[in-house]
Amino acid sequence: MEEERNHDTFSSSSSLQSLNKQLAGTTPGGNADDVPVVDLSVSDEELLVSEVTKASEEWGVFQVVNHGIPTELMQQLQVVGKQFFELAEAEKEAVAKEEDIEGYKRNYLQGIKAWDEHLCHRLSPPSLINYKYWPKNPPQYREVNEEYTRHMKKLTEKILGWLSEGLGLPSVTLTQRLGGEMTEYVIRVNYYQPSQKSELVIGGAAHTDIGAITHLLPNEVPGLQVFKDEQWLNVEYIDSAVVVIIGDQLMRMSNGRYKNVLHRAKLDKERLRISWPVFVAPRLDLLVGPLPELTGDETPPKFETLAYKDYMHQTFAKWAVEKVYSS
Ligand code: SIN
Ligand code: FE2
Repeated sequence: MEEERNHDTFSSSSSLQSLNKQLAGTTPGGNADDVPVVDLSVSDEELLVSEVTKASEEWGVFQVVNHGIPTELMQQLQVVGKQFFELAEAEKEAVAKEEDIEGYKRNYLQGIKAWDEHLCHRLSPPSLINYKYWPKNPPQYREVNEEYTRHMKKLTEKILGWLSEGLGLPSVTLTQRLGGEMTEYVIRVNYYQPSQKSELVIGGAAHTDIGAITHLLPNEVPGLQVFKDEQWLNVEYIDSAVVVIIGDQLMRMSNGRYKNVLHRAKLDKERLRISWPVFVAPRLDLLVGPLPELTGDETPPKFETLAYKDYMHQTFAKWAVEKVYSS
C-alpha cells in the first residue's frame, strides 16, 4: 500500500505550486508516520529552528521544499548523471575507482546482500577535487555539478545554522566545528537497476551515514526507507524536494540530541531508481566529538572525541564484520 501511495504521488506529478498549497501551514507533514517536510520559504527563523531541530531529534531525517535550488538545475544534475551511466562500460571505466572512495564502480555481489553501481567524487573543497574522477561525458557534467555544489554549500550552512541554534549555540558553530571551508562535500550517484527480487535485494543495506549530514536528491522512483519506532517507513517522493539525513558526526557533536537515522534503499521491480546523495563530512584529521558547550558534570560526553579518519576506520571495520557493505 505504501508503495502504491508513492506511485500515486509520482504519477500525479504535482507542480511545485500545488504542492506548496498542500503544504501551507501543515509542515511538518500530517501523519505521525510521515517523514517531516520543512518549507524553507517561511521567513520566521524561529519556526525554522524549531522545525528542523524537532525533526532532527525525533527522526534524523526530513525533506526540505522551497529550498532555493532551482528546479531546472536539479533536473540537469539528474540528466547528466543518468547520461553518464548510459555510456558504454569502457567509457565509464575511464573514471573507474582505484583506491579511496572516488570513481565509478560496479559491484557484482554473490549472495543477495547489496547490489550497486555508482559514481562518487568530491565536490569541495576545491583543493581536494580530483577532476580525473569527474566524467568528461556528457560535456555539461562539470558545469552542472559545480553549480549544484554552490547550492549544496548554501543549503548546508543554513541547516547547520538552525541546528546550532537548536542546541542553544551561535548559528556559525556547527559549520565552523566541521571545518568551515575545508569541510568535504562528496557526491555519490547510485544507479539501481530494476530487480524482480526487490523484496529481497536491498540496493543499499541498512546503515547510518558516517559523515555529518547528507542532502539526497532522489529520482521519482521511491525506494528510500527509514527506520523509526521499530518499523521501516517509506520516504514519500516529493517533486523537487531534498531529503536531509542526519549522520553520525552530528549525532556525536550534539551529544546524542540529533539522531543518526538508520536507512536503506530498496530496488524497484520495474523501474530504474537513481539517487544523488551529497555527503557533508569533516576533513579527515579533524577531531570530532561532543561539543564542549554541551557537556559538563551533569551531562557527561556520551561519545569519544576522535579524528574523523579514526572514526571511519572503526566504522568500516565494524561494517566488514557485519557485512553491511562489501564494495
Ligand atoms: C544511501 O543512503 O546510501 C542511498 C539512499 C538512496 O539511494 O536513497
Ligand atoms: Fe546513506
